Amino acid sequence: MCGIVGYVGKEECVDILVNALKRLEYRGYDSAGIAVFEKDRLKTVKAKGKISEGLEHLLENVGKPHATSGIGHTRWATHGEPSDVNSHPIGNGRVSIVHNGIIENYRELKDFLTAHGYGFESETDTEAAAKLLDYYYNGDPIEAISRTMKDLEGSYAMEIIFRDRKNCVYAIRKESPLIVGKGDGEGYIASDITAILEHTREYYLLEQNEIAIVSESGIEFVDDHGFPVEKELKTADWDISAAQKGGYEHFMLKEIHEQPQAVRNTVSPRIKDGLPCFDECGLTDDKLAAYDRIFIIGCGSAMHAGMVGKYVIEELARKPVIVDIASEFRYRTPLITDKDLAVIISQSGETADTKAALALANQIGADTLAIVNVVGSSIAREAKMVMYTNAGPEISVCSTKAYVVQTAFMYLLAIKIALANKTIDNQRGMALTKALSDIPEKIGQCIENCREECQYAASRLQNADSLLYIGRGLDYALSMEGSLKLKEISYIHSESYAAGELKHGTISLVETDMPVIAVATQSALLEKTVSNVKEVKSRGAMVIAVARKSTVIDPTCVDYRINLPETEDLFMPLITVVALQMIAYYTAVLKGCDVDMPRNLAKSVTVE
Ligand code: G6P
Repeated sequence: MCGIVGYVGKEECVDILVNALKRLEYRGYDSAGIAVFEKDRLKTVKAKGKISEGLEHLLENVGKPHATSGIGHTRWATHGEPSDVNSHPIGNGRVSIVHNGIIENYRELKDFLTAHGYGFESETDTEAAAKLLDYYYNGDPIEAISRTMKDLEGSYAMEIIFRDRKNCVYAIRKESPLIVGKGDGEGYIASDITAILEHTREYYLLEQNEIAIVSESGIEFVDDHGFPVEKELKTADWDISAAQKGGYEHFMLKEIHEQPQAVRNTVSPRIKDGLPCFDECGLTDDKLAAYDRIFIIGCGSAMHAGMVGKYVIEELARKPVIVDIASEFRYRTPLITDKDLAVIISQSGETADTKAALALANQIGADTLAIVNVVGSSIAREAKMVMYTNAGPEISVCSTKAYVVQTAFMYLLAIKIALANKTIDNQRGMALTKALSDIPEKIGQCIENCREECQYAASRLQNADSLLYIGRGLDYALSMEGSLKLKEISYIHSESYAAGELKHGTISLVETDMPVIAVATQSALLEKTVSNVKEVKSRGAMVIAVARKSTVIDPTCVDYRINLPETEDLFMPLITVVALQMIAYYTAVLKGCDVDMPRNLAKSVTVE
């Protein structure tokens, strides 16, 4: 939520800041702004709307300020509607800040500051922090920042500039992420590395209770008492091409095409002698055999990956698996114990609810394993064990490759737990591992062979108001993700439903021409699913079946079908989801929606 950038160097900084902000727009795009050191003043330019619609137009109209240092922000509104005045940077000409997170005690701070003569213009929580900094500032920035940090409750990643500290940017964080990039005589600050990859891959991870000071004389860190802190310079292994569209019309389409490689990068390094190997994180067979239960916790698509994980782990390893939505888990005194394993799934590693769920599981004493994409993210650091999904940066707000690698990981985990618990033997383990290793090729086949079928399906869906995804078993678990993809980017209402449950209420929604996407890849359940398809067809539904090419389904109950490549039933979700992603993608394109930046959403949800 909200993207932050900063630059101190020798170049004109406005374009550097705006371009970096554009790379962070997936974090929020309600408004954007910059504040730079222009001669002896702080010049702020900010506007409602996406960067290309608001900020860039405004900069063309008012002229780009000449400056070599400044800060920038792209917003996902929490306190106060998206508007020019609620946009960041926020300040008063003497001090200016950008903020990602929520200041929970902003009302008390506002009352305190109002009593000391401060006025407020915006509805934001951020303004209280900006005015508090001004209140404490008597010429010593570190003192003012330290005192402010002590008073602030909640979460923040924040950049601060003072008019009389020319070309110097200060940065602090609590909960929300922030990195400091090191260029050649230049310093960058960003919410994540993708914003600055075109300039540098070297960066420091800012920690809580530290203050970064980025100035023309270099990058320094001090603690909240002003004492210097030595930090390790890290190097990102992502390169800039990973954060560019590379000829594709949208990041989402590019990321769909990256899935075969992403699955390879996730699965291959974890296979040794034909079987899954988790030596990298110390998750031994002894531990896996001893756990009573597995909890899988995440939000959105990450939680959906856990749903597939539940079916696969329970099937192979016969261990009870509880899948939890992180925001539910954290507030319902969960029955997790120190004999359980909590698997925390997150692409960003920064999702606020998922982080809180992890903290709770840690506190209760459960073993915690983070399955995370972003190296060094908070969840990766706070879990007892971590394994990375190696998908590379995912830019489109709508998750595709991150979900697929998380799901692929669920299979590795399931095979490993099953071997440890001796519910399968090595031979079966090897056959399953081989089938998983073949999935990237099948995903590639699905992208090529099913594209036109998905485009046609999209043309049948684009005018729908509402539709259903139905399936049984793994098809049901998987269709939750298909349904989410469609609704988030095409704005068509859709629900996924266990096919057998339809007749208990939901079938009353079915009327003439209502689209129903029937996922039917599980051979043992095929007959049952087809019966449910007949029930909706006979009530007028327009049925699109998603099934293997070889599966025979009575053509009279299906209007159209997508023909998937073949693999074992158990692995079909990894292929089927690709077709569902393409259906959602092409439907959104046909409807003219903003595929990569759907309304109201943000990719990294760092507030509760
Ligand atoms: C947001 C994104 C989803 C994502 C979810 C969890 O809602 O739009 O695509 O699945 O957050 O994010 P995480 O980074 O924890 O996987």
